Amino acid sequence: MNKNIALIRGDYASVEIMEQAVRVLDRVAEKYGHSFSYTEVDMGGAAIDKYGEPLPDSELAKCLASDSVLLGAVGGPKWDGVPADKRPERGLLKLRKGMGLYSNIRPAKIWPQLAASSPLKPSIVEKGVDFVIVRELIGGAYFGEHKTWTAENGEKAASDIIVYSEHEIERIGRIGFEMAQKRRRKLCSVDKANVLDSSKLWRAVMHRIKDDYPDVEYSEMYVDNCAMQIVRDPSQFDVIVTENMFGDILSDEASMVAGSIGMAPSSSLGDGSCGLYEPIHGTAPDIAGQDKINPSACILSAAMMLRYSFDMAEEADEIEKAVNAVLNDGLRTGDIRSEGCTVVGCRAMGDAILSKI
Ligand code: IPM
Ligand code: MG
Repeated sequence: MNKNIALIRGDYASVEIMEQAVRVLDRVAEKYGHSFSYTEVDMGGAAIDKYGEPLPDSELAKCLASDSVLLGAVGGPKWDGVPADKRPERGLLKLRKGMGLYSNIRPAKIWPQLAASSPLKPSIVEKGVDFVIVRELIGGAYFGEHKTWTAENGEKAASDIIVYSEHEIERIGRIGFEMAQKRRRKLCSVDKANVLDSSKLWRAVMHRIKDDYPDVEYSEMYVDNCAMQIVRDPSQFDVIVTENMFGDILSDEASMVAGSIGMAPSSSLGDGSCGLYEPIHGTAPDIAGQDKINPSACILSAAMMLRYSFDMAEEADEIEKAVNAVLNDGLRTGDIRSEGCTVVGCRAMGDAILSKI
């Protein structure tokens, strides 16, 4: 198969992980007789430096014309001072919106070899951590009106509006149910319906569609309780579906519970097969250029791209097995180091994963 992949190498240590992910993709292409071509796209800090804005329309167009987008991470202290509407993160939000990627899948699965990296007690981890957060990605407070104004008394005030319409809730709710059907058939919808109107509507829509999925055990939880349950007993969750900002917060918590954010990939899809694949972690400015960052989350994101956008399940399995084999060999980057293991850098981790494919 021929596929054109838009590559956003990103900022700071992101370029290091992307280099390893591309090496892995090239190896898979060689082994399975595919041809992957790459279109370089500037987004985030790199685009601000070059074009003065975090995602020019011309760069978005390249992504829309691709078969899928692989992204590292964007942002960092260099652009902390830029005006809010030009921040690197704005590029990411424009990309998600521009590509219509409403469904963000963030798996939280503990690698048995890394169980000791989880901050949770062994008695909790032993029960298993294997759930998926389905996060709505192009609605809610992120895309409602943002406003800052000065009141008559000279004091500043600000507001951000959460907006959800029924169809936006329904389409992500159905993704949650379908995901549960492919897994252990449990879906927990997370909201704040005791306070927010947008959450009351969320609940009402979920109630309306849940009967279409009689094989899925449906439950609901307030987001504050969910944050607590994720550390108290994560084994109770199979699939969690939630709105944009709750999903942002809970997925960081979940990735930590699962061992390391350095191992956590994610996918974002809309109605078509063209998606955006990125690690959950950021650009790690503190270790940028030092060959220390863990490339696994980015490599696993590339595997998700093969599985969900290119229908290459066998190839995706191969990458995931390679990562697993390297962990079995006792190789670890600094973020997942543990006693008795060999600590290696980003490139050596990439080499080791390549050697298993
Ligand atoms: C994420 C990130 C982004 C988000 C930021 C960088 C805008 O935290 O992908 O989780 O909040 O969605
Ligand atoms: Mg986040």
